[in-house]
Amino acid sequence: MRKIAIIGAGRVGESTAHNLAKHELCREIVLIDIKEGVPQGTALDIQESAPIFDFDTQLRGSNSLDDVADAEMVIVTAGVPRKQGMSRSDVLETNVAVVNGVVDATVKHAPDALLLMVTNPVDILTYAAWRRTGWSRHRVFGMAGVLDSARMGSFVAMETGFSVKDISAMVLGGHGDTMVPMTRFTTINGIPIEHFLTREQIDRIVERTRQGGAEILALRKTGSAYDAPAAAIASMVDAISRNRKHILPAVAVLDGEYSLNDICMGVPVVFGEGGMERVIQLPLTAQEADEFRRSSEHVRADIERLKLL
Ligand code: 2OP
Repeated sequence: MRKIAIIGAGRVGESTAHNLAKHELCREIVLIDIKEGVPQGTALDIQESAPIFDFDTQLRGSNSLDDVADAEMVIVTAGVPRKQGMSRSDVLETNVAVVNGVVDATVKHAPDALLLMVTNPVDILTYAAWRRTGWSRHRVFGMAGVLDSARMGSFVAMETGFSVKDISAMVLGGHGDTMVPMTRFTTINGIPIEHFLTREQIDRIVERTRQGGAEILALRKTGSAYDAPAAAIASMVDAISRNRKHILPAVAVLDGEYSLNDICMGVPVVFGEGGMERVIQLPLTAQEADEFRRSSEHVRADIERLKLL
């Protein structure tokens, strides 16, 4: 890719910029934030690591959303994070206003871009952005499932002691307490985890995955996760910019898949140069379908709340 714009120079935006640059996933990164000097300082700091990490990507900071101009991808991390004791839905009102401004600038200045939403509550804000752009669902999607699955995979590695390289985990549903860790599709070198773990151990992993974001927040107290989220964003950008046709769980607009319409939820999708190229429809057991439906009801309730704002 030639140019990627990252909106929000907080910890997620900063770490994302560094990951994309280090892996040379585009030629140019513009980091945009309203705080004067902050995106400029951050971009320069990362740029100065180029001789050490040996990358050619050019970074610059800006305080103007107009600088999304001609970006091939716009990554939205701007907004307030939740504080301890809050759910991701509690920051909806504040963050939807931020996202609307970003979306309007993107539609105006980067009309051919792909839009990758990260700001929470990510399912709802992906939906809001998709509706506001009027674009095809292939071009507007969100990051959550790669992060939640990475957390689950890490916990499986910690519990079993096996290499994380052999572990493939999958988490679907909304990015909240009702997310659906899919133990049936979680394997260690192709072997189902049930072969190595007791029901009790698996239940513990599922619960820890659901609370993965809150666990980091409780430890840091004033800041939520950013390293793993930024790594998850980079893997999605890698799949798209290198046209890998990679199957990743991500927030997608559903159009009849999983019996849902007019909603955004975490599902397995194929990423390539066209963005979210295809939703993969998995056959679910009765229990999985029930958990997925419960998760969708939470997302739907927030979408209804969004419509009243
Ligand atoms: C997380 O799960 C902040 O939602 C983000 O860490």
